[in-house]
Amino acid sequence: MRRTTIALVPTMGALHAGHIALVKFASRRADRVVVSIFLNPTQFAAHEDLTSYPRTLRQDISWLAAARTDLVWVPSVDVMYPAGFATRIVPEGSATAGLEDAFRPHFFSGVATVVAKLFIQCRPDIAIFGEKDYQQLKVVTQLARDLDLKTRVIGVPTIREKDGLALSSRNAYLSAQERTVAPVLHRVLSDCAKSIAAGGPISGILENGRTAITRAGFALDYLEARHADTLAPVGARREGPIRLLVAARLGKTRLIDNIAV
Ligand code: PAF
Repeated sequence: MRRTTIALVPTMGALHAGHIALVKFASRRADRVVVSIFLNPTQFAAHEDLTSYPRTLRQDISWLAAARTDLVWVPSVDVMYPAGFATRIVPEGSATAGLEDAFRPHFFSGVATVVAKLFIQCRPDIAIFGEKDYQQLKVVTQLARDLDLKTRVIGVPTIREKDGLALSSRNAYLSAQERTVAPVLHRVLSDCAKSIAAGGPISGILENGRTAITRAGFALDYLEARHADTLAPVGARREGPIRLLVAARLGKTRLIDNIAV
């Protein structure tokens, strides 16, 4: 008899249509779908938005019920990190690519530790992550492989608003005015990707992209062209496949996005 397969969709709650797309994808790939909701404190620095992060548990659970989730796993902080908890996974490789890690040095250690725990707790055959957090996707894929966790990590393309803005729980922080500016990030990524695909010089194209993002009113953290698998810097198209990755702050909201060339 065939064994029942399990898919895990790890989330921090504040669910949106992007998460529901992950759940639907999971249900096409496995017999049972588990969604975890855990706002993981170890991936936030003291100055970041842990306390203000949107918490919408009742609504999340009703959406997940409508999307036919089989189990919602909502551990408490005490269950995940009981008194005396003293272990931390410190990923290297793509976790030290100089992208998110350069601006959020604590982040990937927190993610890797909690994702390893979730994989061990739920023992899924597959785990579904959004491509929006592209570096995170690379880090957890490597983590599962390196620790023999027997879970295959699968990335799912980013879901976007009609104007191109990537869906994110943090979009809820944007003011009405900021919301009109936010799609610039995706527009610049798309323009840069087209120019690079057409054979233009990567460094000049990125420089123009950085200027366009800053002029629109963002404080830019990075706009980079990287190898899509290793996240190593690329200087020419032949070194590809290339992924463009961006992170920028609009007022108090930090947005990230990425696109394939
Ligand atoms: O992408 C997220 O929502 C979180 O980083 C994750 C993977 C659920 C770990 O807390």
